[in-house]
Amino acid sequence: MRLFAFLLLLATPAFSEVTFTRDVAPILYRHCVSCHHPDDIAPMSLIGYQDARPWAAAIKQSVTTRKMPPWKADPHVGKWSNDATLSEAEISTIKAWVDSGKLEGNPGDLPPAPHFQEGWQIGKPDAVIAIPAQTIEGAGPDQYVYITVPTNFTEDRWIVAAELRAGNRRIVHHAHVFVVEPKPAEPKPEQKQEKQPTPAEIYSRSLLVKEGTLQWMRPDAPVINDGCAVDDNGLMPGHRSSDLGSLISSYLPGREGDTYPEGTARRIPAGSELSFQIHYSRTTGKTEHDATSVGLIFAKAPPAQVARRIDLSNQMFRIPAGAAEQEVTECHTFDKDIYVTSLTPHMHLRGKAMQMIVTYPDGRRETLLSVPRYDFNWQITYRAAEPLFLPKGTRIAIVGHFDNSPNNPMNPDPTKPVRWGAASETEMMDGWIEYVDAPPSKTQVSQVRAGDVLAQKQ
Ligand code: HEC
Repeated sequence: MRLFAFLLLLATPAFSEVTFTRDVAPILYRHCVSCHHPDDIAPMSLIGYQDARPWAAAIKQSVTTRKMPPWKADPHVGKWSNDATLSEAEISTIKAWVDSGKLEGNPGDLPPAPHFQEGWQIGKPDAVIAIPAQTIEGAGPDQYVYITVPTNFTEDRWIVAAELRAGNRRIVHHAHVFVVEPKPAEPKPEQKQEKQPTPAEIYSRSLLVKEGTLQWMRPDAPVINDGCAVDDNGLMPGHRSSDLGSLISSYLPGREGDTYPEGTARRIPAGSELSFQIHYSRTTGKTEHDATSVGLIFAKAPPAQVARRIDLSNQMFRIPAGAAEQEVTECHTFDKDIYVTSLTPHMHLRGKAMQMIVTYPDGRRETLLSVPRYDFNWQITYRAAEPLFLPKGTRIAIVGHFDNSPNNPMNPDPTKPVRWGAASETEMMDGWIEYVDAPPSKTQVSQVRAGDVLAQKQ
């Protein structure tokens, strides 16, 4: 009888040992091994006990400091479908495992390891469009390559998913691919007058320095750090926020492929080209080859909703040399009812923090996203758990903070002021917003529930 009671005590969770196979592996499989498996972006696999044990102390450190899994949003602001945050219980389990001797446990307890398909995460693409093979020499500064490739699409295509795949992960630091729509046919001579660039457009050309495929803001261009003095204040003169191109996918550390919300699709018009921007770093010191490509999955039927995107950007800012806390803003008012499906802050190496704050037409303010410690190495798209309804007249403020001081370990040069430019050594201040138009029938109803738009697919 006494023995029975003792055995019962042993079996209670408080008294039982924390083991890798039963307690820790399920957490790692859920939250870590998507990157920490062989030949992926993380430096080591965490699938087997033998893989993980030597890393135990580092694992504990990385989860208790919340360095891993990478996730930068303030947990008190917004709800995200791709939220990677570990629960307190998961963190204590990992901590208890490390502190109590890193036991393996019964091999029979180990759950089946997740299966990682080679190749495309989004599924088998209907079209794969690749850049011509590139040769990157082993020495020299990082290289930014801009390559435009025809789609050869003879009809408009609706895409439901896109994945940019680095041809050579050792050297592709990050990459983006944009749709370049075909130019409208040459206007008839009598209409040509209207097609002349506006004075603002001519002026804006003189503000940029272009060298090869790179461009950046002239050091002496006028400075606008307060992009909210009036709407769209920090944009290049003569530009509109929607003119900035239409990114369809990115390859960034830890970023998954882009699958647009169900019932929505992005349009690639017939005759479009795809423009790839690729940042190569010469980390291996050897001559390397790359053929980065994008895989596209077509909609089987026309979508109920067009997946849209607006890139809000301040391009006129200037961050003084050494400034540790420079604020740069940009504001935009939406001229229609929309549902926001994702938000992506984008800055470069001096990016420190970003917030996206809306003011509704009735004056209410709400912070949609707050990233208190922005990290260039983890450019995360925050996907709304429920689409966020913004009625027409809502004004959004993108509020970026930059650290151009020597205390920023990523800062390439704190001794110089920095302005807008494409290279990572220059800066950007962007908020990328994916959205769908709210259906007109719904918006007449005063109480629009977020989620309605996705519910009414057909
Ligand atoms: C999105 C991809 C991704 C996920 C998910 C991820 N990691 Fe990592 N991890 C990386 C990469 C890449 C590195 C190396 C670069 C770095 O340290 O930032 C890394 C580094 C580490 C390191 C070494 C840290 C150091 O200080 O050197 C540890 C330990 C680690 N990860 C543990 C984990 C654990 C535990 C989880 C899950 C709870 C996890 N990671 C989830 C990508 C990921």
